[in-house]
Amino acid sequence: MKLDGNTILITGGATGIGFALAQRFVDAGSEVIVCGRRSHALEEARQKCPSLHIRACNLAHAEERVDLFHWATTTFPRLNVLVNNAGIQQRLNLRNKHAWSVMREEIEINLSAPVHLSTLFIPHLQEQAHPAIVNVTSGLSFAPLANVPVYSATKAALHSFTLSLRHQLEAAAISVVEIIPPAVDTDLGGKGLHTHGAPLDEFADSIMEQLRNGSIEPAYGFAAESSKAAREQFDAVFKRMNQAR
Ligand SMILES: NC(=O)c1ccc[n+]([C@@H]2O[C@H](COP(=O)([O-])OP(=O)(O)OC[C@H]3O[C@@H](n4cnc5c(N)ncnc54)[C@H](OP(=O)(O)O)[C@@H]3O)[C@@H](O)[C@H]2O)c1
Repeated sequence: MKLDGNTILITGGATGIGFALAQRFVDAGSEVIVCGRRSHALEEARQKCPSLHIRACNLAHAEERVDLFHWATTTFPRLNVLVNNAGIQQRLNLRNKHAWSVMREEIEINLSAPVHLSTLFIPHLQEQAHPAIVNVTSGLSFAPLANVPVYSATKAALHSFTLSLRHQLEAAAISVVEIIPPAVDTDLGGKGLHTHGAPLDEFADSIMEQLRNGSIEPAYGFAAESSKAAREQFDAVFKRMNQAR
């Protein structure tokens, strides 16, 4: 993937993986817009990286995705890359009673939003130079972590959707890329829950290098292993990840 000269919208790009990628795309010579719910996180991101464009929105709501699409393509008519990165992760014990609204929100943010945004942006992207859709899935797309059951299911579905999207968009010459992170040290799910993960900068540097070299499924560490595993290996990975819990 070309790293310079793009106009890129990164959802959830004010923090964590999205912000690490945003900074690197800016350094490589692309214009970057990031969005998220928390205005203070967006402002902080812009303080650290002054050329970032920011937009507050809640992607759990379909009408806000449509608003984002209209705003982004009107303000940045040369927008040529959509990065579906925003996500949440909830620990859920399925034997306890959870309000459906809690699970539905996770599905809306992690799955409905990237599906909806992709289909909204396709007609615009296919008119642009070097168009691409980049979806951030997870090593958990391939073997679920049972204490984040809805999260794992949304990431498996997003992986599946990405394969179909790539196939369908071949004729439109829109590249479809899947970034497959392992556990990475961010605030995903709450502060301190991913400190066991890969260092964010090492992960992001590796992903950018793989993108530069044309990879359509850049992955890292454990996720590189699990995304290539066969069924028997998935079962072993599932046991290993879940036995201690
Ligand atoms: N860290 C890991 O271990 C790991 C592993 C595999 C995959 N991933 C994936 O990587 C992506 C980025 O996560 P991260 O680790 O960088 O965690 P993070 O720092 O918590 O980033 C998630 C971002 O998504 C935004 N977001 C969440 N809900 C949103 C909504 N309804 N509307 C708009 N923006 C929303 C958040 O901003 P606001 O809260 O301000 O809205 C935040 O900036 C996620 O898709 C995650 O599933 C992470």
